[in-house]
This record gives sequence, C-alpha cells and structure tokens, in this order.
Amino acid sequence: MITANSNYQKLSSSYLFVEITRRINEFTATKTHSQIIRLGIGDVTLPLTPSIIEALHQGIEDMATSKNFKGYGPENGYLFLRKAMAQREYGDLPVDIDEDDIIVSDGAKCDVANFQELFSQDITIAIPDPVYPVYVEANVMAGRTGEFSKGRYKGLTYLDAHMENDFLPPPPSEKNIALIYLCFPNNPTGAVADHALLTKYVNYALEHKALLLFDAAYCHYIAKESTLPRSIFEIPGATKCAVEFRSLSKTAGFTGLRCACTVIHDDCRIFSSKSEEIPLKPLWLRRQSTKFNGVAYPIQRAAQGAYSEQGWHEIQGQIAYYMKNAEIIRKAFSPLPDYSVYGGVHAPYIWIETKHDSWELFTRLLHETSVVVTPGAGFGQNGAHAIRISAFNDREKVTMACSRITERL
Ligand code: MLT
Repeated sequence: MITANSNYQKLSSSYLFVEITRRINEFTATKTHSQIIRLGIGDVTLPLTPSIIEALHQGIEDMATSKNFKGYGPENGYLFLRKAMAQREYGDLPVDIDEDDIIVSDGAKCDVANFQELFSQDITIAIPDPVYPVYVEANVMAGRTGEFSKGRYKGLTYLDAHMENDFLPPPPSEKNIALIYLCFPNNPTGAVADHALLTKYVNYALEHKALLLFDAAYCHYIAKESTLPRSIFEIPGATKCAVEFRSLSKTAGFTGLRCACTVIHDDCRIFSSKSEEIPLKPLWLRRQSTKFNGVAYPIQRAAQGAYSEQGWHEIQGQIAYYMKNAEIIRKAFSPLPDYSVYGGVHAPYIWIETKHDSWELFTRLLHETSVVVTPGAGFGQNGAHAIRISAFNDREKVTMACSRITERL
C-alpha cells in the first residue's frame, strides 16, 4: 500500500498564493466585476531589460553551434555567472565573499525550502511571524512540527514581529534554538534589520552553535543612500554561522526565467551528533548535485547580462519604478484613519495594519474594488489583522487600485 506523508495533512489545502488565485477565479466566474488589479503575489510586470534579452538571445545562439553548445553545466553554476554575481552582489560591500562561495540555482524559494534537508530531524527552529510562509511549510512537510492549532504549528518557536517592536523581533530568549530563519528586507512587512540587531542574531548563533538562514531576496530594494546592511555577511562572524539567499526574481524581473544563488562561506559549519564540526558548503553541493541539474545555460547567460554594467543600470531603473509605486501606495493609505502603514520604503511591500480580519478585508476589497491584496494571516498569526500590498505592477494600475480602494474605505 502506498501511504501518504502524513505531515502534508497538517498543512492548509493549498499554498497561500494558490489559494488567493482560487478565490479570484471563483469571484470572476460568478460576479460581474471591473478589471482585476493584482497587488497580491509579488510578481514583476515590467519586461526584461534589453541587456538581459540580448544575453539570453546570445545564450540560445550558442546552443545552436557545435563550438559553443552546452550540455550539463557545473553543479555550482558557470564560472562566468558566479564571478559576475560575486562582483555585483558583494563587490561594494564590506564582506569576504567570492565566486567559490556562490551556488547558482533556479530560485531562492526552492533553496530556502530545500535547505532544511541538511539538518537532523530533531533540531529546534525559530521563525519570525509574520514571514514568507515557505520557511514554516517546508519544515511542516519534513515532519519537524506538530499539528496546526490556533494559527501556529506546535514545536516551532515563533519570533513575534509587530508594531510595538517595529516588526524587528530580537533573537529568541530560549538558548537551545539550532536554526533561525531571517528575511530582510522583510517579506511581508518591509522592515529592515540594522547592524545592531543582526549582530545580536550572529552572536546568538555563534554562542549557541546555531545557523542563520538569511533570505536577502529584496536587498536591492534598500534605498541607495541608506546605511542599512544589505547582507548578513556584513556582520563580523556571520561567515561561520549564516547562509544567504539572493535572487534575480525581483531584482531583475526573473520570476519567469528563474535564477538565484545560495551563498555559503568555507568557514560555515554545522555539527555532528558528537559536536564535531562539519563544513556546510560541501553538504549543500552534495544535495544539489544529486537532486538538481542546474539552471539552463541561456538563463545563466541572461543573468550575466543583468550583472553587466549596462544591465545593472537598466535594472536600477526598474527597481526605482516599483519603489515609486510603493510610495504612491503609502501616500494613498497613510491618511486613512483606521489603517496604519508600514514598509514600502526599503522594500516593494506595504504592510497595512487594520482592525479588520485580514481574509475578510481581502474578500471585501476583491468584491468591492476588484483589487487583489494578500491577507496578512497567510504570513502568520500576527498578520491576522493586516494586509500586504505589492508594489509590483504597472503605474497606471497601481494608481487606479489606490483610488478604487481609498474611495471605499
Ligand atoms: C510573494 O509574493 O511573497 C512571493 O514572491 C511569492 C512566492 O514566492 O511564492
């Protein structure tokens, strides 16, 4: 008899953004409505920039010649891309990261979800609330939690993020946490940890032999003039106890192309059951080379195009465009008396706290304005009275969505 992984039964029936799509489809199939404007899932709308397209074309042309054709690539990604990533992602930061620390992949989502496979089943885990749901759900699937009850999974330690702590929770008070997920700029609240807070996390990890998984997918949305840290590796000691995830999805419009990287320094270690140090990077490479065959060569060439001088310049224009949208959304919601606006300054997400139940407000906005937002409850119990609005859409639609909503609320 083929039996199911019973851990899946602890999960809600679908992933947050799949559930939202289901509700949109149900609504559009049964009700008359205005044009739907999607400010729910963070998905880019601007087309790929010319440098990326040119590099992508070149990559495809290469595949058509026997001289340049490529089959399986190196398991950690082509050197041309790892060099470009190291230089562009880390070259301007006070960090000790080079191309050998970079492992190319097809998305931060897969990497951050798969990474937990490297750890023993009984580790203690701390996860912020609210946060990107993948960290929790990957561990539920792996059987590291108990049942879901009152908005939380038993067996996890939640790091409470709320208005009172500016959505920046301190490290856990428990001394025995082995794995801590962090996401800054934060999805969904848009909060960004400063050097002092990240130093506390790194010191916690060093002291307790823990590991930090640092999701930096939105680091390029931190305003240019800001001194906020862009990388966990800016914190002394982090190379020993942290892994960083970066992605071209939101940085360069790659949600449909798929290219990202996981960054692990040679110094990074975990421990055997006898407390012997085990270097972490070889374990991740071992996992990837067994279960993954790399990102398609033309996509890696396209990513190299994004990291070129001209490509990077073009991308900054796209980031500025989405951040202007964020400013428009912030300005539209700020005067509303019953809504408190957060984020949207160093992140493409605006987090709005309300008195309303988040799914009810989601439904009301969908039905009354045909605008899609994300209910905060999808990111954790602390989002039960909040919504997240994504700045990823065309200017005209963002402006229209804001006027439709503000007229109603
Ligand atoms: C988000 O909107 O939070 C993410 O981009 C969606 C996802 O990765 O599933």
